[in-house]
Amino acid sequence: MMSKRFTAQATRLLTTRTNQSKSESTPLPECEHQGPEYVGPSYEQILKTRQAHLTPNLLAHFKKPLVIHAGHMQWLYDHEGRRYLDMFGGIVTVSVGHCHPKVNKALSDQIAKLWHTTNIYMHPKIHEYAEKLVAKMPGNLKTVCFVNSGSEANDLAMLLARLHTGNQDILTFRNAYHGMSPYTMGLTAHSSWRYPLPGINSGIVHVMNPDPYRGLWGGSACRDSPIQTQRTCNCASPADECQAGLAYYKELEEVFKYSLPRGKVAAMFAESIQGVGGTVQYPRGYLKRAAALVRANGGLFVADEVQTGFGRTGEHFWGFEAHDYQPDIVTMAKGIGNGFPLAAVVTTPEIASCLNKALHFNTFGGNPMASAVGMSVLEVIEEEQLQSNCKNVGTYFLKCLNELQQRHDVIGDVRGKGLMIGVELVADREKKTPLPMPHVLEIWEKCKDLGVLFGRGGLDGNVFRIKPPMCIDRNDVQFATDVLDQAIKLAKPNN
Ligand SMILES: Cc1ncc(COP(=O)(O)O)c(C=O)c1O
Repeated sequence: MMSKRFTAQATRLLTTRTNQSKSESTPLPECEHQGPEYVGPSYEQILKTRQAHLTPNLLAHFKKPLVIHAGHMQWLYDHEGRRYLDMFGGIVTVSVGHCHPKVNKALSDQIAKLWHTTNIYMHPKIHEYAEKLVAKMPGNLKTVCFVNSGSEANDLAMLLARLHTGNQDILTFRNAYHGMSPYTMGLTAHSSWRYPLPGINSGIVHVMNPDPYRGLWGGSACRDSPIQTQRTCNCASPADECQAGLAYYKELEEVFKYSLPRGKVAAMFAESIQGVGGTVQYPRGYLKRAAALVRANGGLFVADEVQTGFGRTGEHFWGFEAHDYQPDIVTMAKGIGNGFPLAAVVTTPEIASCLNKALHFNTFGGNPMASAVGMSVLEVIEEEQLQSNCKNVGTYFLKCLNELQQRHDVIGDVRGKGLMIGVELVADREKKTPLPMPHVLEIWEKCKDLGVLFGRGGLDGNVFRIKPPMCIDRNDVQFATDVLDQAIKLAKPNN
């Protein structure tokens, strides 16, 4: 295989030059860290291998896909030495920062001692970590089962709910994303993420998404966010009862009346803020009412905290806390491990006991390396006060983006909480027609060329998703906002 080598000095020169020439009016914020030189196969070779040997469905972001070979905190480096501000954190996964020194050390210390035994032996790390994790949970949510991915966590939550209640039907929202395993694909409610397989919808009911921006009802005080939709209503923020929320709740009641066996549901799943669906927030009060309705019908309520957990939403450690209800099961992944494959399901001892009906086993779940990483991630969140950073920097970010929205008609909506933010691009603000894809891609690509990597989401792919490592600061926010401003100005609608 051909190797492309850059000397450290050349890399440094390239980094400086690239940053200056690409972004004269918005210089990249300074960073003391120097990206390491790239050593590895050439760009052309990587492309060739990808096409020849990796599954064809693998998404490559950008017209000219990036080769990223190193990262440090909120920064990523490509093979040519360019530095990028990472506003997507490996899809909402790098919570405390790329290669965070403390997490690196915890992992390398563990690697030097013990990698793996499975849980047939009592290795200490999983026990220490379980104590630390459940201490973050309210009420009797005190039993944890470690797995390796969000889909696995939701698979297990589905199993627990069905076993515990003896019921089959599970509700989720249209526009929800809960995973890609055959079991969770049924929960995920985007046609783009569903294969035409028999049985995936068995026992699954998708209900109307209570989306105050795109949905049937919404107003000027629905969202738990510093920024509201441009719709109007008569509700007073935030104490008044949200009328849009009530209307959506009545719609949910209709589903129970007409589509479900009376008193016999297994569960309802909800992301606390929809992630893949484009950072969609529900009207205040809705989830609390929905949870009561589900319980009155024999079911459990499952909070999917795969994206919203670990302080990202700023005000609370868990996204469900802002909705003022306590779930029966909480699933978590992504940010829990800062990029290490680690996920968990936390529930009550009573619900967990239904697993005694058979053997249940997961080879890698909670292995010593994952547990060491998970523990140090929790420590870093506390020591560096990342939750309050999310609140402060995230609120500032939302205000900057809202100000940008006043200047660009293509920004139809700005929403979110903490560092879980969405910017929806539209062709027509009134009709909310999604901005045509070539235009969206042009803006996105320009942002990348100017040094900022945003994510995208929503059914039409027209929502910029901003969920960076939780360590970013106001300079980064200013830079990212300026870059988005520039990119919108530079991108031509017909490209
Ligand atoms: C809310 C939510 N739940 C579950 C999953 C599935 O996680 P994984 O990709 O680790 O299986 C995702 C992944 O994006 C997610 O966003």
